[in-house]
Amino acid sequence: MHILIAGGSGFLGSYLIKKCSSHGDQITLLTRNPTKIDAQPSMKVVYWDGKTVKLPPLEKPVDVVINLCGLSIARRWSAQAKKQIHNSRIEPSKALVKWCLEVEKGPKTFIQISGIDYYDMTTMACKENDPAGNTFLARLAKDWEATTKPLDKSNTRLIIARLAPVLAKTHPPLQPILLSTQCFLGAMIGPGSQYFSWIHHEDFTTIIIKMIKEQSIRGTYNVCSPYPIPYATFIKTLATICHRPAWLTMPSWLMKTLLGEMASLVLDSRKVLPEKLLAAEHKFKYPEIQQALTQIVKPECSKNSTNNHS
Ligand SMILES: NC(=O)c1ccc[n+]([C@@H]2O[C@H](COP(=O)([O-])OP(=O)(O)OC[C@H]3O[C@@H](n4cnc5c(N)ncnc54)[C@H](OP(=O)(O)O)[C@@H]3O)[C@@H](O)[C@H]2O)c1
Repeated sequence: MHILIAGGSGFLGSYLIKKCSSHGDQITLLTRNPTKIDAQPSMKVVYWDGKTVKLPPLEKPVDVVINLCGLSIARRWSAQAKKQIHNSRIEPSKALVKWCLEVEKGPKTFIQISGIDYYDMTTMACKENDPAGNTFLARLAKDWEATTKPLDKSNTRLIIARLAPVLAKTHPPLQPILLSTQCFLGAMIGPGSQYFSWIHHEDFTTIIIKMIKEQSIRGTYNVCSPYPIPYATFIKTLATICHRPAWLTMPSWLMKTLLGEMASLVLDSRKVLPEKLLAAEHKFKYPEIQQALTQIVKPECSKNSTNNHS
């Protein structure tokens, strides 16, 4: 298959490209910085400014578009930063959708990444049909998803993947928490009762591949582990795996002082369930946090202990 990945030069793109290449797929990566990309043999790197509807000529018609474009939200949310975060998602998404509708042979599948921040931040479990919240990130996710609306009337199969934070050793959100825990600075953040939804990076890539391959998959899917946990469980599990204490406390007021509105990323509850994936009997490789963190932090200890769960 010919897979076009926009914004694929970052964290998630690197995992996806590796996985798709290993399946023999041809990848075209759209980026604003082609010179910075370490291109693989099965991959073409093409400059795209993230706005222009007319893409440079491509060698073959595209089968699948995966849109990962978006400026990192891990920065203080000043009015200007919010605008940049918003535009960096809406502009590329609108342009890609328009291109899909205008190009001679449009793609069969369009996968739009979104976030579980779409929902209201409560300790009630959120499923795909639940309404959008009213936070900055919820409104952003809603606007981002809405840009794909014109594809509803096309022949392109549209999938919106509402993604939870993806856990990997070398990238946030896990990387800084892991490093501080390993340095004896593991800390409870806020009350600890706030829920944390998450997904292991291998489950993320497996689910995206499944979305590409299975024609019955369309519409919106929560992409997260079926077992969200309170933050206290997350940090205690990580500390135990690292053989370290987690004895510090970062109270909510301190997080709000340090991070401003962005503190909501760690203080608000996110309890999201992948109801549609579970209904489709998807088997998660790392459904539980203990297994996922052990595999990421100490892969040598997890080889014999991972079984597939539904
Ligand atoms: N990582 C997670 O846990 C997670 C969870 C939920 C949702 N998401 C969403 O998934 C997407 C990918 O996440 P990631 O962690 O891979 O992010 P990342 O490492 O920061 O990569 C994001 C990519 O977006 C592109 N980009 C940034 N600003 C842009 C702009 N103004 N116009 C066009 N492209 C722009 C960049 O491509 P170039 O610089 O090469 O052009 C970059 O490669 C993001 O939209 C993120 O919000 C991520």
